[in-house]
Amino acid sequence: MRRPLVMGNWKMNGRRCTAQSLLSAVAAEAATFSDVDVVVCPPHVYLGLVGDRLGGCPSIACGAQDVSAYVDGAYTGEVSAEMARDMGCEFAIIGHSERRTLFGETDGVVAQKFARALAADMTPVLCVGETAEERDAGRTREVVLRQIDAVFATCGARAFARAVVAYEPVWAIGTGRAASPDEAQAVHRDIRDAVARHDPEAAAGLRILYGGSVKAQNARELFARADIDGGLIGGASLIADDFVGICRAAG
Ligand code: G3P
Repeated sequence: MRRPLVMGNWKMNGRRCTAQSLLSAVAAEAATFSDVDVVVCPPHVYLGLVGDRLGGCPSIACGAQDVSAYVDGAYTGEVSAEMARDMGCEFAIIGHSERRTLFGETDGVVAQKFARALAADMTPVLCVGETAEERDAGRTREVVLRQIDAVFATCGARAFARAVVAYEPVWAIGTGRAASPDEAQAVHRDIRDAVARHDPEAAAGLRILYGGSVKAQNARELFARADIDGGLIGGASLIADDFVGICRAAG
């Protein structure tokens, strides 16, 4: 049985005051979604603040939005996986579509970051998903499986023994147009089958999250599908009531 997981990706949003008030509001409701694993992923500069605030709320964990593909060293501006772990991050979002499209992260770089997160004793959350053009060309499965296979090529057959995958169709991110539960379930099934071809045990326990315009109104129907184990939430994670509603819907 896979325990539901809801992750809030704050992206590049917030200030100290808004982070503190958002965390307090979500933490105050934690007892209402105690059967769900919840993770908040602030910008790196607020990891200390979030870690301190969540210290009193063990049911909510902290995650990084990205980690460097390199270990500590002369890499100006980078944040290593070891540093994020040192700040209390248990999870690391890897290969978000915004990193891939805006910052040129290739499948190979993403796989290196995935490896770094594992080496730092973190749970990597690999983001996969197709663009609208790729979907319209019927290439969704090909793209998603290519992104999965790139991690196997670098990290080996047991790569997903301790990992999460987030299916985030690029055309659904920030658009208000979520994939339908049936659309998402079909891709999640493909992802689980692809992992099972390398590691059946890991595939059975792999939590696969859906991300892309998840709201309190559509979360329950999405999360009810057999291979949708929770969500990776963007905009709605910045609004306490919405994020709490999504966490409750996952329970
Ligand atoms: O990482 C989650 C994010 O990409 C989804 O964004 O705003 O569509 O929930 P949003």
